[in-house]
Order: sequence, then C-alpha cells, then structure tokens
Amino acid sequence: MTINKSIIRQIRFNSHGDDRGELVALEIAKEIPFDVKRVYYIFHTAKGVSRGFHVHRSLKQVLVAVSGSVRVHYECINGQRGEVILSSPTCGLYIEGLVWRELHDFSSDAVLLVIADKIYDEGDYIRSYDNFILEKK
Ligand code: TYD
Repeated sequence: MTINKSIIRQIRFNSHGDDRGELVALEIAKEIPFDVKRVYYIFHTAKGVSRGFHVHRSLKQVLVAVSGSVRVHYECINGQRGEVILSSPTCGLYIEGLVWRELHDFSSDAVLLVIADKIYDEGDYIRSYDNFILEKK
C-alpha cells in the first residue's frame, strides 16, 4: 500500500534519569506508533559521507541518534522541505509515507538507530529523486 501523503514529526522520549545516568525505554503503542518488525543502526560513518537519498512507499520508521548527531533533510510530497538535527537519545523522528530523506553531517560518534514496521524490502524504495517527483503527478 502506498499512502499518497507524507508524515514527519518529532517524538520526545521520557528518560528515566537518576544519579546513575539515563535510561530510555521504547515500547510499541507508547513511544513507537507501530508494530516493530526491524531495527538497524548506522555507525562509523566516514567523514563527509551522506546517506539515504530515497523515499519509502509504505514504510513507517522512527530515527533516533542514540549517540552523536545527524542532520536530516526532508521533502514531503506536497513540496514542503525542512531539516531536523537529531542530536539527543531522547528525541525521535517519525517518518511515514512519501518523504524524500537525506542524512548528512554524521558526527564521528554518531549511532543512528532506525526502528521500522516492516522487514527489508528493496521494492518499497524509490531511489531516484526524479521518480519521487513523478509520484506527485
Ligand atoms: P542502503 O539502503 O544503501 O542504506 P542508506 O539508505 O542508509 O544509504 O543499505 C546499505 C546496504 O544494507 C544495502 O546492501 C542493503 C542493506 N540493508 C539490509 O540488508 N537491511 C536493511 O534493513 C537495510 C536498511 C539495508
């Protein structure tokens, strides 16, 4: 199923902090608004490397920089563009629908956790920006 819209919003996670440090718990239907099928993380990203450059047709994801920072550039199907700096383990970025996303400026200590509602499926990707623009028509 393809939803012909884009949803992107930040989610704040509560941290159970005490004198030992911090702990964030992510539970389905609480912090994570879908059933989780897959988790992956991106780390040791070489200096100057950018990733992403694609749209998912139906995947729902939450991105969390559990360490370091990443700049997310996004463009929605209605043309709305923006940037979000992920730099806190207590902040998630929810993305659903046709959102072009690019990941830039990974800090050397960046670990980007991605939580997703489906297993990996190359058929769910639109990897060409031109094809993404064609989806608008
Ligand atoms: P890729 O899609 O290029 O990552 P990005 O969009 O961040 O640039 O994925 C890199 C490789 O990892 C590619 O061979 C596909 C594989 N991969 C999986 O096997 N499972 C996954 O869940 C993901 C996200 C990627």
